[in-house]
Amino acid sequence: MTVASPNSAHARDIASVLHPYTHARRHLEAGPQIMSRGSGIYVYDDAGKPYMEGASALWCASLGFGNERLARVAYEAMRGLGYYHIFRQSSNEAAIDLCERLLAIAPVPMSKVLLQCSGSEANDSALKLVWYHWNAEGRPEKRKIISRRQSYHGSTIATICLTGIEDFHKGFGMPYDGFLYTECPHFYRDHRDGESEEEFSGRMADALEALIAREGPETIAAFWADPVQGGGAGALPPPAGYFEKVQAILGRHDILMVADEVICGFGRTGNMWGSETYGVRPDIVTCAKALSAAMQPISAVLMNERIFRSILAQSDRLGSFVHGFTYAGHPVASAVALETLKIYEEMNLVAHVKALEPVFLEAFGALKSHPLVGDFSGCGLMGGVELVKDKATRAQFPPEAKLGMEVDRHARERGLILRANANRIALAPPLVITADEIVEMAARLRAALDDTLAA
Ligand SMILES: Cc1ncc(COP(=O)(O)O)c(C=O)c1O
Repeated sequence: MTVASPNSAHARDIASVLHPYTHARRHLEAGPQIMSRGSGIYVYDDAGKPYMEGASALWCASLGFGNERLARVAYEAMRGLGYYHIFRQSSNEAAIDLCERLLAIAPVPMSKVLLQCSGSEANDSALKLVWYHWNAEGRPEKRKIISRRQSYHGSTIATICLTGIEDFHKGFGMPYDGFLYTECPHFYRDHRDGESEEEFSGRMADALEALIAREGPETIAAFWADPVQGGGAGALPPPAGYFEKVQAILGRHDILMVADEVICGFGRTGNMWGSETYGVRPDIVTCAKALSAAMQPISAVLMNERIFRSILAQSDRLGSFVHGFTYAGHPVASAVALETLKIYEEMNLVAHVKALEPVFLEAFGALKSHPLVGDFSGCGLMGGVELVKDKATRAQFPPEAKLGMEVDRHARERGLILRANANRIALAPPLVITADEIVEMAARLRAALDDTLAA
């Protein structure tokens, strides 16, 4: 990308913006790709070129990239009560309505909702709740957390420790003690010859139980998982029977289940929650992203009665629940989230995703015939294309080849933005996508794979 003039947006970006998850030195030369507007599943760069967004940006723009109705709600909310907090028994109607609605649609009976501003804040706060809970139950030694390798749960100090991706720890002196990682249940890559998905899940569950035994079950506070593994693993559904086996282990050792529904929540997997799709029975649910169709920064932690009883007990002992953020329960963000949930209801979101699921799975599943593609697995409107060097042995390209990024580069030339890891391409288009657009998106991806192969 060339820098047009010292005063161009490109040049000013390079001069002033530090970008998340971006190679700082390379950015000095390459500069940003600037998006100027959006409509439906398309975003338009500053030269006016349209791109299909294959991953709803950061898995979040569920209703696409522009929405009059939500804009009007935000405008009215800002004029009425542009801000107020919910500390010290203050409240506002939008926050109340939103919490009530979240409890009504929760995947399992839940008792209370704690509003936050981002997925990281939701997981960070959930972690504090876990520790608060075990302290309240008189078991302060239950402090260690188990998550999965290749899972992503956020970027704050606590949530990057929950995140099982070594590359994200390097340079920060992370993770802190007490954060443990069990296997990423990647059936396609790691199954043994002749091993069924159920057997593979059994092996993954055995590894979890062995880790718990080694560490001492009395020291393990919670297991943290997103029902479909998003960021690091690249939209990886669990193998058959996985969560059933995991839940049984957690039950045996009185370990809390925290479902990170930040990506999976609100229809993405073909049910309102990924927990419903895969039989997860969480004590705590965290959600964000599609909660407001990504139009406002808002997230939520849903907790069951057991956790809330602990908070009550601690308030008798310690006084107030001393945790909160200035913008938690923000009336504008809450109003937009509430309206988003209304839109989901009116469009019959779950039925809509279920109806598109076969089209999505077939269109992207057909890519398995491509020489670079070993597998595709998905559910609802999310899934991952597995890139392989050798289909027979399932051997991957070396990570330094960054093949996924190469495919993404070619796809952008063809007007498609992907979410690529080195060897897996995740797809999670806006939920308002049509069947024709799914077919077109898969065709563009196939063309990009062809370009990659030819390069
Ligand atoms: C599963 C999951 N949890 C948590 C987060 C963190 O959310 P945020 O970026 O809003 O802090 C993400 C972000 O992508 C995520 O995918």
